Amino acid sequence: MKNTVTTIMQQKGTENKISMLTAYDYSTAKLVDEAGINTILVGDSLGNVMLGYEDTTHVTMEDMIHHARAVARGAKNALIVVDMPFMAYQTGVYDAVVNAGRLVKEGHAEAVKLEGGVDVAPQIKAIVKASIPVCGHIGLTPQSINIFGGHKVQGKTEEAARRVIEDAKAVEEAGAFAVVLEGIPSKLAKIITETLTIPTIGIGAGADCDGQVLVNQDMLGMFSDFVPKFVKQYANVGEIMKAAYRKYIEEINAGVFPDEAHSYKISDDVIEKLY
Ligand code: KIV
Repeated sequence: MKNTVTTIMQQKGTENKISMLTAYDYSTAKLVDEAGINTILVGDSLGNVMLGYEDTTHVTMEDMIHHARAVARGAKNALIVVDMPFMAYQTGVYDAVVNAGRLVKEGHAEAVKLEGGVDVAPQIKAIVKASIPVCGHIGLTPQSINIFGGHKVQGKTEEAARRVIEDAKAVEEAGAFAVVLEGIPSKLAKIITETLTIPTIGIGAGADCDGQVLVNQDMLGMFSDFVPKFVKQYANVGEIMKAAYRKYIEEINAGVFPDEAHSYKISDDVIEKLY
């Protein structure tokens, strides 16, 4: 069944929790889609895990479009949400609508995600008015790490918690179809989930959200530069890959690979004529 913004919204408050996972390329998107995920996020975390940047502030619109197009070719049933990169919407409503439009037209996004609450509510409203669904993203928003002074859990004091709640309400009022809650205490995420009518999708926000999202490379153990507390490793694919690479190098050196089974044949008559 094709997941849409409507089906995702209908999952709010049900036992059918929303599953979201990042993907940045065709073959991974195909695997994730075939596994039955509800929604694929082409996250600007690609700056960290695909491009090797220290943070997401260096990611460009071109990076996002390039990866989103590949994902769109691989995914048949998952809703494809694409991140708006740093400075693609903070500069104002006009830029936000133009860049969201590019992600749909050139990147084949079915929805876009942007970070921030009260401050970016006008941008969310304008993008939705242009018929592009928006997923909000509040709490520990990685594009703001230079303001936060690092990847720090948000909303821990009463004042900070109230600010996160206000951001959540602003995102909903602006017309977002869902909101990602990142790096906030589980009990605060529970209050927000109970307060909003749109689904919450948590990452480091506890079990009471309407859904969960993780970065693909994190959950597969393929990225070790920085592993946040909230990451659960479902497999150690990184070690499996390294073992396969070592074996390949060994077999080349030992003359074991390629063998007959992995080589092409030609008739001896033809070969004799070549000498
Ligand atoms: O870029 C990303 O992968 C994200 C998730 C961490 C929610 O925004």
